[in-house]
Amino acid sequence: MKQYYDRRAPEYDDWYLGRGLFADRDRPGWQEELENLEQAIARLSPARVLDVACGTGFLTRHLRGEVTGLDQSERMLEIARERVPGGVFVRGDAFALPFPDGSFERIFTAHFYGHLYPPQRAAFLREARRVADQLVVVDAAIREDVEAEEIQERVLSDGSRHEVYKRFFDAEELAEELRCGRVLFCGRWFVMVEA
Ligand SMILES: C[S@@+](CC[C@H](N)C(=O)[O-])C[C@H]1O[C@@H](n2cnc3c(N)ncnc32)[C@H](O)[C@@H]1O
Repeated sequence: MKQYYDRRAPEYDDWYLGRGLFADRDRPGWQEELENLEQAIARLSPARVLDVACGTGFLTRHLRGEVTGLDQSERMLEIARERVPGGVFVRGDAFALPFPDGSFERIFTAHFYGHLYPPQRAAFLREARRVADQLVVVDAAIREDVEAEEIQERVLSDGSRHEVYKRFFDAEELAEELRCGRVLFCGRWFVMVEA
């Protein structure tokens, strides 16, 4: 997953913006729902927040408070730094966060948790709970044309092919999985849960 996302960095936002390889995707209501999700993120109370696996900062920019973004990909971080000049961006591993216990009030993570296999999920949740009391997870919503769990073949503009593990979530089930979670957003494309 690491190498794939580093390579994908310059074209990553095409997925959000329906450009490039995503220009022909039929995604009814996508744009409007993305705006609603962004507004829901902006409504989270201002906090000392760490966005784990922040990517290009596409969603990070809507977080309020003292914002730090972390990603393993330097190419992703370069874009995020430009996009969110008020944030601090560091390269690091989500499974070994380079911060002392309790450094943040909230961990935010988007479209990352759903790529994790069970042992990685447990490791990530342990690490997230070590550095913050609150966790907010944004991910893909389950829909009729996808399986809850898939191995997807992804193609990049350079023609390279990559296998990616990906889950799609029912918001209530994700809340339960995260233990005592609360659904903050539930749409056709995205879910957001707080735990
Ligand atoms: C699907 S992208 C999500 C980006 C962003 N959060 C968003 O929602 O647009 C997944 C991100 O996870 C990062 N990533 C993958 N494994 C990681 C790890 N072990 N530690 C930190 N970041 C990682 C990738 O570099 C990539 O930027």
